[in-house]
Amino acid sequence: MESTAKRKFSVREIREDFPALRQLIYGKNLIYFDNGATSQKPQFVLDAINRYYSKDNANIHRGVHYLSQKSTSDYEDARKFIANYINANSTNEIIFTKGTTDGINLVASSFGELLKEGDEIIISAMEHHSNIVPWQMLCERKKCVLRVIPITKKGDLIIEEYEKLLSSKTKLVALTHISNTLGTINPIKEIIEKAHLVGAKVLIDGAQSIQHKKIDVKDLNCDFFVFSSHKVFGPTGIGVLYGKEKILEKMPPYQGGGDMIKKVTFEKTTYNELPFKFEAGTPHIAGGICLGKALEYVSQFNMEDIENHEMMLADYAQDLLSTFEDMNIIGESKKKTSVVSFVVDGVHPFDLGTLLDKQGIAVRTGHHCTQPLMDFYKIPGTVRASFAFYNTKEEIDVFIAAVEKGISMLK
Ligand code: ALA
Repeated sequence: MESTAKRKFSVREIREDFPALRQLIYGKNLIYFDNGATSQKPQFVLDAINRYYSKDNANIHRGVHYLSQKSTSDYEDARKFIANYINANSTNEIIFTKGTTDGINLVASSFGELLKEGDEIIISAMEHHSNIVPWQMLCERKKCVLRVIPITKKGDLIIEEYEKLLSSKTKLVALTHISNTLGTINPIKEIIEKAHLVGAKVLIDGAQSIQHKKIDVKDLNCDFFVFSSHKVFGPTGIGVLYGKEKILEKMPPYQGGGDMIKKVTFEKTTYNELPFKFEAGTPHIAGGICLGKALEYVSQFNMEDIENHEMMLADYAQDLLSTFEDMNIIGESKKKTSVVSFVVDGVHPFDLGTLLDKQGIAVRTGHHCTQPLMDFYKIPGTVRASFAFYNTKEEIDVFIAAVEKGISMLK
């Protein structure tokens, strides 16, 4: 697929690429507004998955035979494509993982080995559990200290408080680029710059940004960037940890096994070079190849066109929802992506989500794996509509009518 000449942004044509969008749920046209949880897959990716398993299937880095060599080169070509896509220096900086959670755990486990008692790690009050728990486990293991950047009621980080937390003890700042619950886009460039001034490294959780924004790791100057394939129209079970080569070189392997070694004897094992040092065992080969295909699919478009369309949808939905009585929008930052979370006084999010489902509308309800954030807002959960570039204004109209009807039934 050509990625240099950009494709005209036509939602109608984009929707044709996604077969899952053309189905009835309980006899209604599916309206898929749960893109924050996972995205639908274009035919281009589905064909690549099918082709891999029906023709090319073989293990990689191990065989002299044709299929093994073809799978190896397709897998490594995908790595190259990903490196270019996020503007990494080389494929040595692209580690395939199971997903964002796995990438964070890899860093917590391996980079974490380099930390010592009293070292500090900073996260924020809006993190997903996957960017809280691995650091808590590390702090317990190494007797480090976890610090948390507070947020405002509107859902913005309080930068002055972040500055107060930074010190020579800070070894890592681990922060979400975009909040999965609030939609807030954090000022990560500024945050990275400030962390570097005290010598700390920065990990950016890109699970909710890779599908909405152009990512340039060199421009951001982040030390680690993690994301999942399934949020960006690729398969589940595969993701990427980007890390600066110099830092990855210093980090010990995360897991031991095949492919991550250079030489094994019973006395001593030497490790493979990057990126293989961090990739023990047979990987998700089809996943890696098809993540490359998913990014190839996205790269047909101008990211700005995607962002503009999604923001138009989110603003439209939020403006309409805001007119409802007893409505509380959770996450009102001026810098938001296409996520609208809300709670209605006297209506349990789960009940509203269930009624929406019966209308063929898929949203997520609950705490969205951000329980500390729910505690901050003193709510059990929210209803969250999260949009992708294949969603339409007409779908939002149907959604708004269904929310109105649902509230009237539940109150
Ligand atoms: N982290 C995903 C979400 O926000 C699953 O729904």
